[in-house]
Amino acid sequence: MTPPQDSLLNWQEMDAAPEPGTRLCSLDALDASGAKGVDFENGDKRFSLFLVATENSGPCAYVNQCPHAGTPLEIFPDRFLTRERDAIVCASHGARFRIEDGLCISGPCAGKRLTKIPIETIGSNAHIARDQTNRGSK
Ligand code: FES
Repeated sequence: MTPPQDSLLNWQEMDAAPEPGTRLCSLDALDASGAKGVDFENGDKRFSLFLVATENSGPCAYVNQCPHAGTPLEIFPDRFLTRERDAIVCASHGARFRIEDGLCISGPCAGKRLTKIPIETIGSNAHIARDQTNRGSK
């Protein structure tokens, strides 16, 4: 992973980033906690993302790197949301992010954003979107 950023990451250039079309997980995997972390490894390089269920429109995905200190957001597996499941929360210093667009709404990086990864649903599985140029992807 790269150090913390002031702007959105170009996640496709990051070490071990998955290719468009890569299967991430079944949609059922989000049922237990409302979110699911997925890691990719390439040699000693690692790329982490997480998916989060939205209220009205399928899951969305973000790079698992807080814009404050650059650490992964979760301490316990798949625990990316507040208890009320109304926001994404960083376990390190408590930053809260909107689920829909990753904007930090409180905490030490207020106003910054998580980096969104376009995904698509194929059957009962979530995949990295095959067309990464479509900004309308989730
Ligand atoms: S590293 Fe996430 S709030 Fe500090």
